[in-house]
Amino acid sequence: MRRLVLNDGTEIPVIGQGTWRMGERAAERKAEVAALQAGIDLGLTLIDTAEMYGNGGAEDVTGEALKGRRNEVYLVSKVLPSNASHAGTIKACEQSLKRLRTDYMDLYLLHWRGSYPLADTLQAFQELKQAGKIRAFGISNLDVNDMKEWLALPGGGEAVANQILYNVGVRGPEHDLAPLLADAKIALMAYCPLAQGEVGSFKKLEPIAKRHNATVAQIMLAWATRNPLSFAVPKSSNVARLKENAAAGDIKLTAQDLAEIDAAFPAPKKARPLEMI
Ligand SMILES: NC(=O)c1ccc[n+]([C@@H]2O[C@H](COP(=O)([O-])OP(=O)(O)OC[C@H]3O[C@@H](n4cnc5c(N)ncnc54)[C@H](OP(=O)(O)O)[C@@H]3O)[C@@H](O)[C@H]2O)c1
Repeated sequence: MRRLVLNDGTEIPVIGQGTWRMGERAAERKAEVAALQAGIDLGLTLIDTAEMYGNGGAEDVTGEALKGRRNEVYLVSKVLPSNASHAGTIKACEQSLKRLRTDYMDLYLLHWRGSYPLADTLQAFQELKQAGKIRAFGISNLDVNDMKEWLALPGGGEAVANQILYNVGVRGPEHDLAPLLADAKIALMAYCPLAQGEVGSFKKLEPIAKRHNATVAQIMLAWATRNPLSFAVPKSSNVARLKENAAAGDIKLTAQDLAEIDAAFPAPKKARPLEMI
């Protein structure tokens, strides 16, 4: 598994595990816990969750999966914009930590921009970091203008990642947001890197997959993590697919592969507003 070093010196795997839609159905809980644990065994030692997912259910499932192995994982969660006031962020973090059954998160993100000033959320993030409840902070779904506003705030440049919708079929961020993040040394954390499982829409990647003895999904993951400071959090509750996703972390696309992908799925020529799911 390729690894990358974040701007705070922390090393992480380029592929992790998403948890959206986990923790919603009691009947699936056991399988979800087992899948997350199998993923960790396979080297997918970064888990992305959020207080929003399953109304805390995904954090709860994650907490159970991490029992006895918290230190093996880089744990990411997110505060909802409706909780992202100064006091609300601190309270939300403490509640997430309880569900996660840990006393620290590795990375805490603002899920998307809401009505509270970014400065209030950032101030709370800094206090949580000082208190050791989070080791790093970042943002999610911030487009260029919001990102510039965040970076202009004192301490904004300490953010380690912006988690955004990015996959072979959604290349808008390459125009302006990705270069801005690269300049600020803020990692691009790709969500929905497998287009929410719609890998059948990417048949044009099959010849490239064949050359690498890989699947289309693996090529999508290798592509989303091809640049320095980019990593991805595909979600799977299926051990065979987790294996596939973990192995994608070793695939290095060639210049020819990248040129073929550009031809089949071109990046937009003009800036586009950041899409969000
Ligand atoms: N910040 C945000 O606003 C935001 C928004 C959306 C998502 N996210 C985060 O990003 C994570 C990933 O996004 P996502 O879950 O929406 O979409 P995704 O990872 O692009 O796709 C997940 C879907 O792909 C299937 N899948 C997984 N591996 C596969 C493979 N190798 N081949 C074929 N299909 C495969 C999964 O099914 P199985 O489970 O059956 O394998 C699932 O249906 C989320 O779980 C969440 O943590 C963040």
